[in-house]
Amino acid sequence: MSTPDHSPTGGGMSAAAGLAATTAEGCTITDLHKSYGDVEVLKGISLTVNPGEVVCVIGPSGSGKSTLLRCINLLETPNQGKITVAGYDATDPDVQIDDMRAQVGMVFQSFNLFPHMTALENCSIAQRRVLGKDKAESDATSLQNLENVGLEHLADRYPDQLSGGQQQRVAIARALAMNPSLMLFDEPTSALDPETVGDVLGVMRQLAEAGMTMVVVTHEMGFARDVADRVLFMDGGVLVEEGPAKDVIGNPQHERTQSFLARVLHPDGTPEG
Ligand SMILES: Nc1ncnc2c1ncn2[C@@H]1O[C@H](COP(=O)(O)OP(=O)(O)O)[C@@H](O)[C@H]1O
Ligand SMILES: [Mg+2]
Repeated sequence: MSTPDHSPTGGGMSAAAGLAATTAEGCTITDLHKSYGDVEVLKGISLTVNPGEVVCVIGPSGSGKSTLLRCINLLETPNQGKITVAGYDATDPDVQIDDMRAQVGMVFQSFNLFPHMTALENCSIAQRRVLGKDKAESDATSLQNLENVGLEHLADRYPDQLSGGQQQRVAIARALAMNPSLMLFDEPTSALDPETVGDVLGVMRQLAEAGMTMVVVTHEMGFARDVADRVLFMDGGVLVEEGPAKDVIGNPQHERTQSFLARVLHPDGTPEG
């Protein structure tokens, strides 16, 4: 996990010191099933994410990766199984959903910033609405988190005045401003221009080094290899293979993992060495 930082951001942002994590509980998923109509998309997923652990989820499009993340914070309702997250029993019908969600930060491929709010306001709104903070306190926390992602100087910009990578860093700051104990990332760099990908991965790497518990769906194999404590390969709604990155990416055991990695690592069809 603490490999040297050779991301393009290098030491450009002194974020590591500020990116503090408050991880007390991880996340446990037992026999999770999710269907849309007759189509079963998650077919019995069991997974434990320990406090402070970084788990990267890889797998082909349509394999259920986003659905898995969305079930963890109840953006989707599981059909069967049990999920505990940040000390909450997410599958208890009486769970305090807003309290639970406040503990789970989520970053989407498409940023999902409010377009009519500045970066600062985007970071502050949920602190005020969900945590009941006043403006001064929420703005101070937001500025600190924007600083941690290297963007405090752009706090007054609107999303359309920011690059994709900057918007994604605002989205990360917004999630962190809620002081979550678990962060979920769903292909956070897939929609970015290549030159801004490194900045976002750099922030995520620093967050991992600060001890945040993270589940990251990504096609960035370099990031997975360097940062993940564990890599999961999903296909067809099941976990096919999991283990340390050096095993799953470097020496995959299952044919399905092997053929997926061959496609991702050699997308132009170049035969492997
Ligand atoms: N809201 C939905 N309604 C119906 N089918 C869905 C819905 N969301 C996802 N699916 C289907 O579930 C499968 C898994 O989707 P998803 O979790 O987005 O996969 P991934 O993130 O791995 O690409 C896909 O076949 C997708 O079409
Ligand atoms: Mg997806």
